Amino acid sequence: MGVCIGIFSLKGGVGKTTAVVSLGSAIASFGKKVLLVDGNISSPNLGLHLEIVEPEFSLQDVLEQKANPSQAVCKLEKFDVLPASIFREQKVNPFFLKQKLHHIKKNYDYIIIDSSPSLGDETLGAMIASDEILIVTTPDHPTLSTTLKAIKLAKQRETPISGIILNKVHKRKFEIPQEHVEITLDTPIMAVVPHDIRFLKSLSKFKPLPEVHPSSEASEEYKKLAATLIGQKYKPVRLRNVIRWVSPRKQDINREIFYQSVFG
Ligand SMILES: Nc1ncnc2c1ncn2[C@@H]1O[C@H](COP(=O)(O)OP(=O)(O)OP(=O)(O)O)[C@@H](O)[C@H]1O
Ligand SMILES: [Mg+2]
Repeated sequence: MGVCIGIFSLKGGVGKTTAVVSLGSAIASFGKKVLLVDGNISSPNLGLHLEIVEPEFSLQDVLEQKANPSQAVCKLEKFDVLPASIFREQKVNPFFLKQKLHHIKKNYDYIIIDSSPSLGDETLGAMIASDEILIVTTPDHPTLSTTLKAIKLAKQRETPISGIILNKVHKRKFEIPQEHVEITLDTPIMAVVPHDIRFLKSLSKFKPLPEVHPSSEASEEYKKLAATLIGQKYKPVRLRNVIRWVSPRKQDINREIFYQSVFG
């Protein structure tokens, strides 16, 4: 039975969809069967990250009982995608998502759910459908304050939070330091993804960064996160990783703690 991992943030543009695509690609690179689902039903864009523009059936059709989930799944080379249609305007009931995914969970090892930045039924529906969640934030005050809201929502719903993806990090002094982010959110940071223009380049090619630039720091961070979540070890032999074995960063330690507590 597949595990559903939801990716959340109540702020637009922080990198949720990019995280879904990158993490999905990274998990698939370990030989796992992966499905990506666009839970951002009213403003979907997962399909556009992967050159799926007008699928024959969409998640909206599935939620309206007009198609089976497997009919709406698009099979790509490395993983599958259940896209939402960008052309649909009628409202659908997002609370059916969990039940619909249940029918196809057995076909996958991992299902990664993208979500909406709005605090509404869509976000709740995606959270209810998730077995565990990751929250994406950037190291600035406006985003951090909305991230606190997302964490509060997950805690109210008793949805397990696996940790934070700290995204678009410039490693500059004007940013909120990583340790302050962690203390403020009281949640472990599981990945620190640098701001990297190659994300935009890979988006223009409709490909996940880990496929286009597998040895970039951002891709390796997603692979390390993927390995931790699925209970595998990943230690690429590169100088920067050798340095980190000697002097691990906080996210390396957090990942090891997660690994030991879940799979150890
Ligand atoms: N680490 C990064 N470095 C540089 N650019 C990034 C990074 N992560 C994401 N981006 C870029 O930021 C933009 C917004 O990303 P994305 O669409 O994933 O955000 P989102 O949270 O899903 O937005 P929305 O809430 O509107 O759905 C995209 O152009 C993406 O390529
Ligand atoms: Mg998005």
